[in-house]
Amino acid sequence: MSANWSPDSWRSKPIVQVPDYPDLAALSDVESKLATFPPLVFAGEARALRKTLAKVAAGDGFLLQGGDCAESFMEHRADNIRDFFRVFLQMAVVLTYAGGSPVVKVGRIAGQFAKPRSAPNEKKGDVELPSYRGDIINGAEFTTDARTPDPQRQIEAYRQSAATLNLLRAFATGGYADLERVHQWNMGFVKDSPQGHRYQELADRIAETMSFMQACGITSENTPQLRATPFYTSHEALLLGFEQALTRNDSTSGEWYATSGHMIWVGDRTRQPDHAHIEYCRGIRNPIGLKCGPSIEPEGLLRLIDVLNPANEAGRLTLICRFGHDKVEKHLPKLIRAVQKAGRSVVWSCDPMHGNTISAATGFKTRPFDRILKEVESFFDVHRAEGTYAGGIHVEMTGQNVTECTGGATAISEADLSDRYHTHCDPRLNADQALELAFLVAERLKQERAHRAHPLAATA
Ligand code: TRP
Ligand code: MN
Repeated sequence: MSANWSPDSWRSKPIVQVPDYPDLAALSDVESKLATFPPLVFAGEARALRKTLAKVAAGDGFLLQGGDCAESFMEHRADNIRDFFRVFLQMAVVLTYAGGSPVVKVGRIAGQFAKPRSAPNEKKGDVELPSYRGDIINGAEFTTDARTPDPQRQIEAYRQSAATLNLLRAFATGGYADLERVHQWNMGFVKDSPQGHRYQELADRIAETMSFMQACGITSENTPQLRATPFYTSHEALLLGFEQALTRNDSTSGEWYATSGHMIWVGDRTRQPDHAHIEYCRGIRNPIGLKCGPSIEPEGLLRLIDVLNPANEAGRLTLICRFGHDKVEKHLPKLIRAVQKAGRSVVWSCDPMHGNTISAATGFKTRPFDRILKEVESFFDVHRAEGTYAGGIHVEMTGQNVTECTGGATAISEADLSDRYHTHCDPRLNADQALELAFLVAERLKQERAHRAHPLAATA
């Protein structure tokens, strides 16, 4: 167990990105109450995820992590969750079948509520109010009332996470994710899009495989692997009072686990090695993600790896790289070399979203889809050149037909952004763009697999 660590040891460290709660007694009441609530996930599940990620770190499997930038209280509807899960399954099946790789499925969901902000306040005209920090902290509306941090929102976030997770578990194990239903995941606006047609062809091939296996006696009724899929949840561990309240000691191992989600990550803005967020994360045994942006240097990264994964345990740490499409080649190789030289085991994952956010002429925050694809391509290229394994992607996406990122096969233009721009925070891939990205990654996975089998043959 980590020396000098306790679930509240982060409280004596410097900390950034903390909301200014006006009533600290009310905050502490809420935290005490949350500490009595049942855990959202089990330690054993987090351990299982760590084990699968250990395989990914060794080059066996691919991490698919995705979901909303920020979940919202207003949009807590069954159809929203289902639409997300459906596209997520489509992506997963594309990667599994076309990419020929087992896929570790981790949603950015059922707890992704807190947002780091670049400024503590927002000014409109003469009025200055606290910035919106996510529904778990305050409301997005620009009024004093909404923007004042309210601890009761943490209870609401807990309840929403529990309900969301409950539905996701039902979908993942109760029949919805059955491979026999692979055609039925192709629905709504996606069905008639170019990606939908591409998916249809792939689903046809899977169905053919399934009927062959059925003839051999292997069916989804007698084979749980065909019927169900392990699905995990993740979010940024930003609001540490909330995380602490849900930190529990696992009776079978005596270890501490965050039970707010299976995997949690530390953002690029809160990863100072001697600060509170890293202090909290070092003591829990869940798989941890670390966001790495252009400002991280090899020495700083190695120091963080030492703190977060001193025993060099495979599957414990995923480095989620978010440099920007034109910066991957500059920043990634030196990090890879340092990690390799130090003999550290990590999963390398690519977040092609956060380094590619721009303001459209119309004022909307957007992300050009071609830059997102470019960042993923460069990520694979660099790993090929370094002889390391590109192990995952981390994306902001929704099952809805939104117009938030420009480009893609349906060519969303800057002028189209206003049509269906619904995000509470950053622009997300819509279902069609998410699927297009999955096909591209599958193609790369297939190439990398061929390259590893026959390193001297040309595969490009
Ligand atoms: N159980 C396998 C897996 O999770 C196969 C599988 C079942 C699957 N349902 C799925 C794969 C849905 C992708 C999507 O990988
Ligand atoms: Mn975001």
